[in-house]
Amino acid sequence: MLDTDNFTPQQTQDGSLTFFSQDFNQAFHSHYGAKQESYLKFALPTQVQTVAKKGIVRILDVCYGLGYNTAAALEVIWQENSACIVEIIGLELNPEVPKAAINQNIFHDWDDQYRKILTELAFKHYLQTNRLQAKLLIGDARKSIQEVRKSGFQADAIFLDPFSPPQCPQLWTMEFIRQVVFCLHQDALLATYSCAAAVRTALLSAGLIIGSTTPVGRRTPGTIAVYPQDGEKNITEIYPLSLTETEHLQTRAAIPYRDPELNDNTDVIINRRQEEQQASSLEPTSLWRKRWDSLI
Ligand SMILES: C[S@@+](CC[C@H](N)C(=O)[O-])C[C@H]1O[C@@H](n2cnc3c(N)ncnc32)[C@H](O)[C@@H]1O
Repeated sequence: MLDTDNFTPQQTQDGSLTFFSQDFNQAFHSHYGAKQESYLKFALPTQVQTVAKKGIVRILDVCYGLGYNTAAALEVIWQENSACIVEIIGLELNPEVPKAAINQNIFHDWDDQYRKILTELAFKHYLQTNRLQAKLLIGDARKSIQEVRKSGFQADAIFLDPFSPPQCPQLWTMEFIRQVVFCLHQDALLATYSCAAAVRTALLSAGLIIGSTTPVGRRTPGTIAVYPQDGEKNITEIYPLSLTETEHLQTRAAIPYRDPELNDNTDVIINRRQEEQQASSLEPTSLWRKRWDSLI
């Protein structure tokens, strides 16, 4: 079943609008601010403005949704370098979401050029101009990511923005994240709003190092990830994990979601992880929480 196009806009605390998904029983954005989240959790931590100075930026937007993350990235890039060429691939299951965002005028206060781009993507799933090549692959991201990978696309920035792990575990599994990481250029950054230990373990096991992005509104941080390297993208120095977060990775919460054939449903993936957690000798997460309760 998929949400139909009867989405009702909801206002978030920064004044921007989002939707609520009946299928996933969750809002598409944090109530602190849809627009704010797209800049502070995705566009800015992945440093797209720095990449823009080179003249070309390639972005993989996993879970395109209403299109906020794509729009924010384009704005940040072209503010830095208006001639920058941008290639974007968006992955989205439900074609009604981007359409509803346009039909409901969610981007009414954005510059006309971004509304036109989002409109083309929502209704035609493709757009080519002299400085933008964008396509939206409609379908289960577990399938479309394989198409992206086979095409050889290497992203300078990846936005990983599914619904939360308990609602949509299939897009946070070790196997899916590994496919996504294959599409990450060697010195590029991947950002997600999630700080779940299971997600962080999946990123680590895909060969990345991780950092903790600044909390935005909500009290929890996001995660930034990159292949191990020295220099300016040494994110363990720029975005260090706190001791609390490091210890969280030693608890049962850090047991990742698994989906060996990339086709299991939510219940199967959740149950598989629960069984693994029950059999685990790792510290129960409740003990960790109790230890840090006064601080987190
Ligand atoms: C949290 S929302 C993303 C919000 C979006 N990034 C934005 O800026 O508006 C998650 C999105 O993931 C999509 N989704 C859910 N399951 C999916 C799947 N298996 N493959 C691709 N997209 C999926 C939902 O339809 C929804 O649009």
